[in-house]
Amino acid sequence: MARQYNPSNVAVIGMEWGDEGKGKIVDFLAEKADIIARFNGGNNAGHTIEANNKKIVVHLVPSGVMHRNKFNVVGNGLVIDPKILLHEIKNLEKNGIKISPQNLAISENAHVILPHHIAEDRQAGGKIGTTGRGIGPAYTDKAARIGLRMQDFVDDSIFKKRFGEEEFYQEYKGYAEELKPYINDTTAIINDAIGNNKKVIFEGAQGTLLDIDHGTYPFVTSSSATSGGVCTGLGISPRKVQSVMGVCKAYKTRVGNGPFPTEITGAVGQKIQKIGREFGATTGRERRVGWFDALIGKYAVMVNGIDSIALTKLDVFTTVDKLKICVAYKYKGNVLKDFTTSIKILQNCQPVYEELDGWWDDITKVRSYDKLPNNAKKYLRRIEELLKVPISIISVGPKREQTIVARNEFLV
Ligand code: IMP
Repeated sequence: MARQYNPSNVAVIGMEWGDEGKGKIVDFLAEKADIIARFNGGNNAGHTIEANNKKIVVHLVPSGVMHRNKFNVVGNGLVIDPKILLHEIKNLEKNGIKISPQNLAISENAHVILPHHIAEDRQAGGKIGTTGRGIGPAYTDKAARIGLRMQDFVDDSIFKKRFGEEEFYQEYKGYAEELKPYINDTTAIINDAIGNNKKVIFEGAQGTLLDIDHGTYPFVTSSSATSGGVCTGLGISPRKVQSVMGVCKAYKTRVGNGPFPTEITGAVGQKIQKIGREFGATTGRERRVGWFDALIGKYAVMVNGIDSIALTKLDVFTTVDKLKICVAYKYKGNVLKDFTTSIKILQNCQPVYEELDGWWDDITKVRSYDKLPNNAKKYLRRIEELLKVPISIISVGPKREQTIVARNEFLV
């Protein structure tokens, strides 16, 4: 994927363990886009958007939905809980956001999450700390070639033949009828749009370290959350993805189990968790918090081909006296400068930190890079230096307008 300035399309990818603020960034970018397309995951995701005096959380419907006249695509790479999707559509409508096949298409090749997937996940997902939404079991069936695609779900001759005897059949048949008008060939829709120079945002869910291939396996989700997932999850050529924007938080968070080298325990950790309101948008669970980890950042830049970074929640650091950035891991007498997916090393290494001074001025009303406190700028510059990628967007609060564009050339 070659870097292109003022691209027609951009993939928005989580650089860590999800919850980086992709929903807000996608909503911000969507203003200038025509189509917003999700390519992976399911309702394990919770993308929070605050705009037009409303706060909504979407789990399946793409985060462009708060803008009128945008087309939203749910790609083939997703697993869809039909009950949740219909509930979400109704909830959006209650909030005055009209959803119809005119602004939402669901891939005929996305897979369906059925009640037994959820039951199985709730029983077996404890070790990983899954969201319990049936994600892993639905993707397992897909890979085992016994899953149910959306197109087969809404064709009753197929659905009934496979699941007609099940207790859930009647209820789910009703969902299938309601969803039928949305089912479409989204691969053709996206490729036509790209061919016609429409502006497209590819919206990722979860993040690089939760990716099934590149994450901290087995503490990962079951889909491709990295930029490679854009191509497989929507059916487009890698040559068509013009730009990749990585989203990362000013600090790190993780929900669920698994190693977290820069995890902060004690009073500072609790302070950041409280100010940052670090509780899951999907499950309400407490998010673990940690210092910025440059090894993870560099790894995410490499795996995804990140052109620029959207850094979120910088405002949460206001009043934190000393900020730390992890620049290496010490493990058994060796200094590691690059990230590793070895759980053994991640669990037993000691982070090596650089310390920077914090700032005390409220930055939630700052709208230009120049007006940020010097120490905030120093922190951002150090991240750019370490990751060797420019920061294009800085988020200083949850609302759409609390956004600083530092480099316009990476936006659609
Ligand atoms: P699953 O995706 O429900 O199977 O959960 C697998 C792991 O990914 C667990 O640690 C979850 O907490 C985590 N996870 C899944 N989706 C998200 C997300 O959108 N944000 C943050 N963590 C997530």
